[in-house]
Amino acid sequence: MSNAKLIFDGEEYELPVIEGTEGERAIDIAELRKQTRAITLDYGYANTGSCESEITFINGEEGILRYRGYPIEQVAAGADFTEVCYLLIYGHLPNASELAEFQRLLAYHTLLHEDMKKFFEGYPPTAHPMAILSSMVSSLSAYYPEGQGDEDVELNIARLLAKTPTIAAFSYKKTMGQPFIYPRNDLSYCANFLHMMFAVPAEPYVVPQVLAKALNMLLILHADHEQNCSTSTVRMVGSSQANLFASIGAGINALWGPLHGGANQRVIEMLERIRNDGGDVEKYVRMAKDRDSGFRLMGFGHRVYKNFDPRARILKRSADDVLEALGVDDPLLDIAKQLEAVALEDEFFVERKLYPNVDFYSGIIYRAMGIPTQMFTVMFALGRLPGWIAQWKEMREDPRTRINRPRQVYTGATARDWVKLGDR
Ligand code: CMC
Repeated sequence: MSNAKLIFDGEEYELPVIEGTEGERAIDIAELRKQTRAITLDYGYANTGSCESEITFINGEEGILRYRGYPIEQVAAGADFTEVCYLLIYGHLPNASELAEFQRLLAYHTLLHEDMKKFFEGYPPTAHPMAILSSMVSSLSAYYPEGQGDEDVELNIARLLAKTPTIAAFSYKKTMGQPFIYPRNDLSYCANFLHMMFAVPAEPYVVPQVLAKALNMLLILHADHEQNCSTSTVRMVGSSQANLFASIGAGINALWGPLHGGANQRVIEMLERIRNDGGDVEKYVRMAKDRDSGFRLMGFGHRVYKNFDPRARILKRSADDVLEALGVDDPLLDIAKQLEAVALEDEFFVERKLYPNVDFYSGIIYRAMGIPTQMFTVMFALGRLPGWIAQWKEMREDPRTRINRPRQVYTGATARDWVKLGDR
């Protein structure tokens, strides 16, 4: 193990250097404050590791993403989403019987407690489905409280994976004013979700294979992305030993923001705005460069990827294939491609290494699949669920986990005497 040297206030300190399996290095500052009385300050945590993790590897400079060592390109090409859930959560590819048992569990637990259906009635029809999703996921803890044993946790993991698509589809039905469609355990994970979304009691509905296949790929591409904002939130909340549902509910809320998972909804809204404004993509690229405009190219840029986002590459190719298979001709796809082409040639974007991210093309595919714009971030949440669970589980099982509690540099008023109301 090597060390880093820090000279501070004339004293020299040795800090251990930790190296990951892919050669990533970190300076361990666990003893820093004890030794020096100083802390580190890192807005947005861009240089701060919060844990060691075996789940997902990203090399942002080279555009690499791997789940448990498997390259995202291979996973997206051949896997079933439930296999990816198992891989992320349990660390190895399931054999045939492990997978069959896991899929059986996920199918068996799809029903919601009937009382939970009443919750949906309380929301206004305009409620954003992310508001419903996060509250309902937190509410699951009221029905499935965690005891002391690991068995409860394992069962709750299966329940969460099984019931979240049901909650998501019910939230959509609520906004449509349509009756809830109950899950069908004979269908695959993805087909069952589409059935609950698009079937109505009045006529038969067969899930088109092309839709189920596209959804499977989309969910896989979103399945984990190491210590992003929502995952860090899940770990943060979970570090207080809050239960699984409470921790994931918090993660769903973190995902909602437009700088994170909420970007997929904003991308489509931006593309519609450009189309309605005559389709002049250069005008919007100019606006994105002007800080005073308050406008950013949604679906562009990433904290980690500084070359390309491998998920966006796969999605760009798939957008053409899926739209063709569905017989959809969407002018927004052309606008997106034009926007990308103009931005990628522009010095501002080149200099700052800003490329399309996962949210840039995913919305176009969701749209073609008939999923309404407000549901896009919910779709992201369904995909990210196994990643959140895997990270929460890893955090819980790591004996080094302590409650997450950052420090601050206080810059407020120094001590002063309280002034009575009459004297102010
Ligand atoms: N459009 C225009 N300029 C941008 C953009 C953008 N989308 N993204 C970054 N920049 C500029 C930014 O103004 C800054 O310029 P300067 O150095 O002159 O001040 C520079 O690039 C660095 O940006 P930053 O905001 O410091 O970068 P960050 O790492 O803090 O933020 C980000 C990353 C993803 C929040 C940001 O790129 C962004 O707001 N993108 C648009 C929203 C989006 O697509 N989010 C989805 C992210 S991927 C999926 C997910 O994580 O959920």
